[in-house]
Amino acid sequence: MNRKVLKAVFPVAGLGTRFLPATKSIPKEIMTLVDRPLIQYAIDEARAAGIKEFIFVTSRGKNALEDYFDHAPQIEDALRSKGKKDLLDTLESTNMESGAIAYIRQHKAMGLGHAVWCARRLIANEPFAVILPDDVIAAEKPCLQQMVEAYEETGANMVAAMEVPREKTHAYGILDVERDLGDKVLIKGMVEKPSVEDAPSNLAVIGRYILTPKVLHNLDQNFKHNRLGAGGELQLTDAIAEEINAQGVYGYRFNGQRFDCGSKAGFLQATVSFGLSRPELRDEFAGYLRELVSLKQAAE
Ligand code: UTP
Repeated sequence: MNRKVLKAVFPVAGLGTRFLPATKSIPKEIMTLVDRPLIQYAIDEARAAGIKEFIFVTSRGKNALEDYFDHAPQIEDALRSKGKKDLLDTLESTNMESGAIAYIRQHKAMGLGHAVWCARRLIANEPFAVILPDDVIAAEKPCLQQMVEAYEETGANMVAAMEVPREKTHAYGILDVERDLGDKVLIKGMVEKPSVEDAPSNLAVIGRYILTPKVLHNLDQNFKHNRLGAGGELQLTDAIAEEINAQGVYGYRFNGQRFDCGSKAGFLQATVSFGLSRPELRDEFAGYLRELVSLKQAAE
């Protein structure tokens, strides 16, 4: 089987209810961390990993997302004529090659597995990546690139994994580890949102996957036979777990810091962290945060 990962699926058809009322009219993925929408971070990560085809699974109300990937010749001309080269470079760096992006509609939010299944004809018979743009990962070497390199060695399904505090295991899919190989762990099970007592480890699955076409086949069978998982949804985790005793599934401990931008607290943390990492903002912003902390301490 070919081990080159050239396609990535971005499931962005969810309702984003945790960000209502904003998500009444803006897709969650267009919300910005500093000055870049969440989706741009995901695209940049995929490009760095060598992805050439970008497949978005969208839904009603996501037009702003599709428009975002159009080129902006009018703004480019205006910046050019004003000699604003830095801004022009920033803008042009977001331009996508014509034909590199495809959009598929998920007509009903029936879960992450169903969203990936909707892209099955575009993925066809190749290994592919899945990126959830809600999970933003700050890393020296982009997370997906780390995983693509690991996949080239193993050729087996791979999910990004991260240690979480025991008391938070109930919020994640948790890996049951067969063999710990350091950055990779071979797994013997995956448990969705277990209680602290039932969690087989504290290694949680987060939103990066490299999957083989076999997982698509499993999704297809599960859909056709109405084998739905938790919440009555077609679950990606179930289709991956079916490969544990077949092709094998690895968890990959990536290097980097993940922010859950699907939640308000995670989004705010990412805003602070990304703001502080920008040279043009750092001094002013850090000064403001210091002032805020000292005011709070004085009040206590
Ligand atoms: P979430 O569980 O975060 O759901 O989906 P959501 O709808 O985006 O947000 P909340 O919970 O209502 O606030 C995780 C990822 O899976 C996609 C979402 O767009 C998000 O990227 N997804 C989820 C789909 O594409 N389709 C679905 O049916 C469900």
